[in-house]
Amino acid sequence: MIEKLKRDGDLSDDELKILLASGERDAPLFAAADEVRRAVYGTDVYIRGLIEFTNHCKNDCLYCGIRRGNGLAERYRLTPDEILECAGQGYELGFRTFVLQGGEDQHYTDEMICEIISRIKKRHGDCAVTLSIGEKPKESYRAYWRAGADRYLLRHETADGAHYSKLHPASMSLDVRKRCLWDLKEIGFQVGSGFMVGSPHQTTENIVSDLRFLQELEPAMIGIGPFISHKDTPFRNFASGTAELTLRLVAILRLMFPYALIPATTALGTIAPDGRERGLAAGANVVMPNLSPVGVRKHYLLYDNKICTGDEAAECRKCLEAKVALAGYEIVVHRGDAKTHFSGGVAV
Ligand code: 5AD
Ligand code: FES
Repeated sequence: MIEKLKRDGDLSDDELKILLASGERDAPLFAAADEVRRAVYGTDVYIRGLIEFTNHCKNDCLYCGIRRGNGLAERYRLTPDEILECAGQGYELGFRTFVLQGGEDQHYTDEMICEIISRIKKRHGDCAVTLSIGEKPKESYRAYWRAGADRYLLRHETADGAHYSKLHPASMSLDVRKRCLWDLKEIGFQVGSGFMVGSPHQTTENIVSDLRFLQELEPAMIGIGPFISHKDTPFRNFASGTAELTLRLVAILRLMFPYALIPATTALGTIAPDGRERGLAAGANVVMPNLSPVGVRKHYLLYDNKICTGDEAAECRKCLEAKVALAGYEIVVHRGDAKTHFSGGVAV
């Protein structure tokens, strides 16, 4: 089955379910994923500097620690100057992609977002700017694109409508989420999507639907991480997802999408201390360390026990360098664009 997945970049739904169901084949699965990753990207690991510029959010997603309904979250916003300052520090550290991530915060008008984008692009012309600021009208996305944004991250969270409505309030819908993703693609963004692994009520069928949706969308980046419960959300009593299933999915994704950018996520590093290194060994090729000012990091808590939020986090870049090298890969200093967007098998 693993040989078939590696050759064709695809399996039947039933085969995928079998592969997902147990850890029996993990060793050969991860080895095959690493082989494909090395054939396409060598040992290169791309880094993105994550700037979490606001934790205000108008949404109330049931899983998320910065949901509107969480009155215990201490809210903050960075000014455009502070964001520029973060990017400047990141540039010195070797980052050539900046990801501006935040809750859906209406304080930042399209004009403000565009100004921030164009200031970063003007000062750092060799860098890519990625936005991760949620659902917006197509006109807004177009304005960001014109201002110079290159990429947009918007996880679909789950491709099953019924499951989507168990994770989100009635005001949100999978149709709108998908519409945003297609709009972004049409405008020309390199799009990143993805989903949480082990989110409440998720079934193996749901995960297969996620993989099928990703085949349709053909995103440049696919981000997955375990769901981790947050104590001040309605999902506080649900079990978190596991590193094991997340790693299995990272490997399956690498085999299904040989050219995709697949991050070893912070959530994976949170659920297991060596999660990100194991992610790299299972096919991931991107890490996204935190560039946010140390003073606000402990307030951007989507889930409990998030790593890299303390004072030591100023050292993330060096720390990751060591971890990545120890895992047998190498951080490279450039924008780190996807090699191509095609999915399907790759000859190795
Ligand atoms: N556990 C894991 N991931 C989460 N996200 C939000 N809340 C959680 C949580 N409790 C993820 C979502 C979102 C991304 C920015 O973070 O998938 O798209
Ligand atoms: Fe943040 Fe290691 S990557 S401290």
